Amino acid sequence: MIVVTGGAGFIGSNFVLDWLDAHDESVINIDKLTYAGNAANLASLAGDKRHQLIQGDIGDTALWEKLLAEHRPRAVVNFAAESHVDRSILGPDAFIQTNIVGSFKMLEALRAYWSKLPADQASAFRLLHVSTDEVYGSLSPTDSAFTEEHKYEPNSPYSASKAASDHLVRAYHHTYGLPVLTTNCSNNYGPYHFPEKLIPLMIVNALAGKALPVYGDGMQIRDWLYVKDHCSAIRRVLEAGRVGETYNVGGWNEKPNIDIVKTICQLLDEMRPRSDGLSYATQISYVTDRPGHDRRYAIDARKIEQELGWRPAETFDTGIRKTVEWYLQHPDWVSQIQSGAYRDWVNANYADRAGMDKACA
Ligand code: NAD
Ligand code: TYD
Repeated sequence: MIVVTGGAGFIGSNFVLDWLDAHDESVINIDKLTYAGNAANLASLAGDKRHQLIQGDIGDTALWEKLLAEHRPRAVVNFAAESHVDRSILGPDAFIQTNIVGSFKMLEALRAYWSKLPADQASAFRLLHVSTDEVYGSLSPTDSAFTEEHKYEPNSPYSASKAASDHLVRAYHHTYGLPVLTTNCSNNYGPYHFPEKLIPLMIVNALAGKALPVYGDGMQIRDWLYVKDHCSAIRRVLEAGRVGETYNVGGWNEKPNIDIVKTICQLLDEMRPRSDGLSYATQISYVTDRPGHDRRYAIDARKIEQELGWRPAETFDTGIRKTVEWYLQHPDWVSQIQSGAYRDWVNANYADRAGMDKACA
């Protein structure tokens, strides 16, 4: 069996669902169920004996000791993290605790477990650490895309805390021999994406008749990957990645934010036209920029393609259409997410931004 951490979040829950579609190998899912963790993402697994969700913290050594001794996993896939840049700007503490201290505690527990495994199980064991392209910092418009050799230049508390966890994972391999793999992926989108991030926020705000808050000039570039493609990349790296290596994962889909927002508006105009006949694009508001906003991310995904034969299945056009359809088909999931805590966040992040002339919260 395998352990997945953070498997009730956006990417983790997609990973668990896809894993159990493709394998019969059981999953123990450790998730703290923070605001971003949602057991409802895994509702389709109710009664499925191959999956067990345990509410717990990756920094809890006693939990790891018990769980590793009882279940003796052959692999751990670590998704658990605080993941939102804007939250890391307003409150970095949780990012340091989970992404750095929590990762360290997890590594210590895994080292203790792995070092006592029989030789054949020890050499087959893997920790796959899921990380981000944001650790590489920001590119200018003419720079080449990030390769695995790009230097680390994290710019936000989020990316700095992820960079720290990547370094710890690397050090546990180099120093202790722990068999690790690291993936650094570009921006994901798709089902179960918490609507604090750009794409789901724009979909749910548009449908609610609220402002679509574009930071700064909207010309910041991200490299978008449909979440199921990220999950297939992780499965492939876990299966065949070389121990100690890092693999960049991306979809060759660089887009300025404003183009993403306009594409979402066009899809909604087609699939759920506004009753007044106007385009959702009339809801776009340019608002005060994010402090320290990275201008461009782009992933060079040739290593994973050439070594492991992985390629994304979706283009941006097919993936974004599926995503908008999913949100239109899951209004209950959206309304359950939009609790009081979500409204507090929207208020904290948007209320004081110049340009928020149309009510967002
Ligand atoms: P998310 O915020 O949706 O989910 C994170 C999950 O981790 C939540 O279920 C949360 O409850 C859980 N969690 C948080 N702290 C925990 C702790 N201390 N112990 C146990 N569980 C805890 O994030 P996501 O977008 O699904 O990202 C998952 C991973 O992928 C993160 O490590 C992130 O850095 C990385 N990543 C994300 C993206 C992206 O575009 N979303 C891109 C590249 C890499
Ligand atoms: P986000 O989804 O938060 O991901 P990340 O910051 O990790 O790349 O943001 C994606 C881009 O969209 C980023 O350049 C910031 C921008 N953005 C907005 O313009 N408005 C918003 O309300 C949000 C949440 C993000």
